Amino acid sequence: MNFNPLDLGDITGYQKWREQKVRLYDKAAHLNVIDIKGDKLTKAELSNLKSACDRFNYSIYRMQKPELGSKQFVHETGLLLGLKRLDGNLCSDEDNITSIQVMSSGRHSVYIPYTDKKLTWHTDGYYNADDRTIRAMILHCVRPARTGGENLMLDHEMAYIQLRDENPLYIEAFTQANVLTIPPNIENGKEIRAAKTGPVFSVDPISHTLHMRFSARTRNIEWKDDSLTEDAVACMRGLLNENNPYVISYRMQAGEGIIANNVLHNRTAFTDGEEKRLLYRARYYDRVDEVVSRKS
Ligand SMILES: [Fe+2]
Repeated sequence: MNFNPLDLGDITGYQKWREQKVRLYDKAAHLNVIDIKGDKLTKAELSNLKSACDRFNYSIYRMQKPELGSKQFVHETGLLLGLKRLDGNLCSDEDNITSIQVMSSGRHSVYIPYTDKKLTWHTDGYYNADDRTIRAMILHCVRPARTGGENLMLDHEMAYIQLRDENPLYIEAFTQANVLTIPPNIENGKEIRAAKTGPVFSVDPISHTLHMRFSARTRNIEWKDDSLTEDAVACMRGLLNENNPYVISYRMQAGEGIIANNVLHNRTAFTDGEEKRLLYRARYYDRVDEVVSRKS
């Protein structure tokens, strides 16, 4: 990204970037699924994954031998992509890679990801403190549901473009430091996560790329109380559906996965078969490394 997305004055820089970005999508390469032969990425596979993340902020892979998919595979793949700093959370397994499946009791069961209900659109960690900003994630499917459980995704840079096309002031609204507050998480009367207030759009100080913090949920969320913010949120919500040509819907099969620079995503409701749907999820404080040739 060679312009500042928060500087609405740099119209030439924006137009150039916008044109390049839209052109990439015109070729529909964002729908490609990258084949992975074994459980150690080859140079070509690695380069394909990085290149897709460079262009679309996500990549989808398919292991030719799904039975080789494991937490170790997720961990090693992450490292090869430059994803070193794993985020732990209340529900992570010991190795900080979370097993996501329906849990009927215990701490997990009160959180929507551990149910078969739909998950509304969001970027990961929108409630996190700044020192735990989630910049990338890997979702690896061990077992799909019997029905449902699709993931829809929208590259947050395309969401930025679509919002700005509609009204540049929406970008201004979303860069306000107090535009979005998530109230604290209180469990049994004890605060386990503080309230978090911050912008929707920011520029990541490390990678100088656009970062987005968003949730489409309607409860336990406080938007700044002004009409421009209200309109921007309504516009954003309007973009989050399958009629948007930049939204993709993908239902992962066993051995398939999504690697993303924390794009907007959701999950549809699902029905488990005899064996439960199982996903491994790793969240990182790093972004996927850029393709080497672009750095030089
Ligand atoms: Fe998520």
